Amino acid sequence: MSFIVAIDGPAGAGKGTITQLVGKKLGLVNIDTGATFRCVALNMIQENINIQEEEKIVKMLDKINIEMYPDGNVFLNGEEVTHRIRENDVNRFVSPVSVLPMVRNKLLEVQRRIAEGKDVIMEGRDIGTVVFPNADVKIYLDATAEERARRRVAQNQEKGIQSSYDEVLQGIKERDRRDSTREIAPLRRAEDAIYVDSTNLSIEQVVEKMIKIIEERRK
Ligand code: DC
Repeated sequence: MSFIVAIDGPAGAGKGTITQLVGKKLGLVNIDTGATFRCVALNMIQENINIQEEEKIVKMLDKINIEMYPDGNVFLNGEEVTHRIRENDVNRFVSPVSVLPMVRNKLLEVQRRIAEGKDVIMEGRDIGTVVFPNADVKIYLDATAEERARRRVAQNQEKGIQSSYDEVLQGIKERDRRDSTREIAPLRRAEDAIYVDSTNLSIEQVVEKMIKIIEERRK
């Protein structure tokens, strides 16, 4: 029997960082499902396939191979793409790609297979609602769009990238809108998910809060 922790929430709420830290502390395998969507987007870029070319997408999905390792490394068709899938072209393309029903169906299968038989902490948008509706723990991690934009600008600054707060905020709002209004598996809080608002909390405070929630359920 595996133990499953589902973490959902919008882009920039801190899911990635926090899930990694909590997973390490509690010995849970960390699975970033956004990376699987990013792999599909990258594969389409590599093969020059656009959103309308259904037949080509089906063929590509038939032979796609996505592997994720506990150290966070991601492989697409045998090639390491851990950093490549975070680049701008993929950032821009991934949201429209993640709306396609055939992509979501295929990745549902991939995500369930990756988690099979393991104790996992899985983060995404629809983990508690669609991928693992019977997860042992469900947490919805949120923060205001303004706070998420501030964090993104600061992150960029650390990487030496200058970005405008207004543009980043607009991008975040646009992605929120698209992720939460799509027809299949939209971003929404599962009824039984615990709501954690990280707007005014430090990373350490959020990690502590989550560990408490998870350990309580694991007893
Ligand atoms: O978390 P992220 O930014 O790496 O996610 C990339 C995109 O994939 C994002 O636009 C939403 C989508 N996604 C999704 O639709 N369902 C998931 N479970 C995870 C990500």
